[in-house]
Amino acid sequence: MTAVILDGKALSEKIIAEVAEKVKRQKSPIGLAVIMIGNDPASDIYVRKKEEACKRTGIRSRTIRLPETTTQKEIIEVIDSLNADDSVTGMIVQLPLPKHFYVPDVIREIDPKKDVDGFHAYNLGKMFLSKEFEHLPPATPAGIIRLLDEYGINVEGMNAVVVGHSNIVGKPISVMLLNRNATVTTCHIYTKNLAEHTKKADLLIVAVGKPKLITRDMVKKGAIVIDVGTNRMPDGKLVGDVDFENVSKITSFITPVPGGIGPMTVAKLIENTLRAKERQEETP
Ligand code: GUN
Repeated sequence: MTAVILDGKALSEKIIAEVAEKVKRQKSPIGLAVIMIGNDPASDIYVRKKEEACKRTGIRSRTIRLPETTTQKEIIEVIDSLNADDSVTGMIVQLPLPKHFYVPDVIREIDPKKDVDGFHAYNLGKMFLSKEFEHLPPATPAGIIRLLDEYGINVEGMNAVVVGHSNIVGKPISVMLLNRNATVTTCHIYTKNLAEHTKKADLLIVAVGKPKLITRDMVKKGAIVIDVGTNRMPDGKLVGDVDFENVSKITSFITPVPGGIGPMTVAKLIENTLRAKERQEETP
């Protein structure tokens, strides 16, 4: 079986072009503020990609880089000032934060209307209701759903297995799949016998951060595999969590790394930034 490669790069380009068209029609500017603490190299790459996508779409972006020594009180003051600033229509705090921060308290401070990452409890909570309430969904899960839609993959009734239970990928994608009537199993670091679960998956989504965690013997023939991992190897190469070379021989569809979910995340963040602005105008 030759797998169809789910081309996130191409689809992300299409989404960015669509957003650029809609941004032109906005009456007032859209402004995205990105708060980045410290200089984690992976975060730095993400932030640059977001800035680049803003430039291409006509969204004004501002990156606030703060030192590793910034305190919780200081970051909260920065968020408060961005909440009060009308030129800022969306904001994100780049994660991970240094260990001395308590992330839930930081995210809670963001005005939910400007929370374009969709990490605030208000936006996450709305997602529990139904897919009609996924107004600002986290970008990576939203990118996964959009990529599946593009290839005509309907998850209803599928056995979907998610590996990883983070607040930014594993948990929200599990809810979004449930909203679309998949039968969802969420596996994580405490799961006993991971392979027993993954082998049953019609749709396997992996967001762990461990190169080659998923090997060919753990995947059912004909499965659809979504690899969210982006691991930088010592030689500088970027690899996912799935042993692509061998697993792709037995799947029906698979995402590459790079060029799969990574670019979709950036595109969806940009789309959320537009959507937040549109919703602010509907209900100021
Ligand atoms: N770190 C890894 N992914 C993300 C993301 O989607 N948003 C933010 N803010 N930080 C991240």
